[in-house]
Amino acid sequence: MPGLNPVIVITGATGAIGSATAALLARRQARLLLLSRPSDRLDALVARLDRDNRVSSVEVDLSSLASVRAAARQIARTVPHVDVLLNVAAMYTPEYEKSDDGFELMLATNHLGPFLLTNLLRDRLAGAGRVITVSAPSSTRVDFDQLLSKEQFRALRTFGATKAASLMFTFELARRAKRWDVRAYAFHPGLVRSDLMREAPRPIQYLTRLVSRPPDRAAEDLADLATSPAFASTTGWFFKGGRRIDPPKSTLDASSQGELWRRSAELVELGDVGF
Ligand SMILES: NC(=O)c1ccc[n+]([C@@H]2O[C@H](COP(=O)([O-])OP(=O)(O)OC[C@H]3O[C@@H](n4cnc5c(N)ncnc54)[C@H](OP(=O)(O)O)[C@@H]3O)[C@@H](O)[C@H]2O)c1
Repeated sequence: MPGLNPVIVITGATGAIGSATAALLARRQARLLLLSRPSDRLDALVARLDRDNRVSSVEVDLSSLASVRAAARQIARTVPHVDVLLNVAAMYTPEYEKSDDGFELMLATNHLGPFLLTNLLRDRLAGAGRVITVSAPSSTRVDFDQLLSKEQFRALRTFGATKAASLMFTFELARRAKRWDVRAYAFHPGLVRSDLMREAPRPIQYLTRLVSRPPDRAAEDLADLATSPAFASTTGWFFKGGRRIDPPKSTLDASSQGELWRRSAELVELGDVGF
């Protein structure tokens, strides 16, 4: 269970939900490692939150396997234990783009990068660590052949599939990570005002702006999930706010979860490390 100054690693720390959560956790005396691509935003965030040398940044491009490996090494050098890994980062792009490693960019950033990072931090998380992956109740089918094909690219479907993949990853992780005494949860923040879908079709932008809320509430719920002893004995749950919710049925098939894990491990060349 996270102690007095829990060590918390946050990806997407510069985003709407990530930065609001980081601010809350900093106020609660957590030792924070904020992960994002290098930017003035990241520097300003660290400067704003770091009152007692407890907040630092780790630069990472989650779409690049080499960058994720470098970030994991830096984290391992910096802290002996990670109490909580918050996988918050994600991106949406309307056009097909390739990552440095040749994968479609949303697949690389939203699923493969966090998958690799989580696995590389296994030994730091071992012993009561928590992995919380921010996702959404997506029932889009996850078909790797489709996701890897430029010809079959459809932006919203690909984005939805990466969110469903985050759920399936969490449920498989929950089973595998028991051996290391690590828990895994998925978290749905509800609709939150952010720039995430700034390049989505206009009706979606309009609708999300209309019904979304500031990130404060989601950040509070996420910070609670990260640090509250109340969740210490649970794993493999999907939360919306502080409440457990049912994930889409399509994400619950254990053999599909296992297959997703196997394909992901192959693509990131995980080898013998990881959960
Ligand atoms: N907003 C919503 O309504 C909503 C609803 C359901 C689920 N979610 C989920 O909540 C999470 C956070 O969303 P948000 O609304 O806070 O989005 P956001 O404000 O757009 O933040 C996205 C974050 O991801 C980071 N990121 C993007 N590409 C990256 C890359 N290649 N490498 C490293 N970091 C990268 C960005 O950092 P830099 O660009 O600074 O590197 C930024 O910090 C996402 O997983 C999203 O799917 C959001």
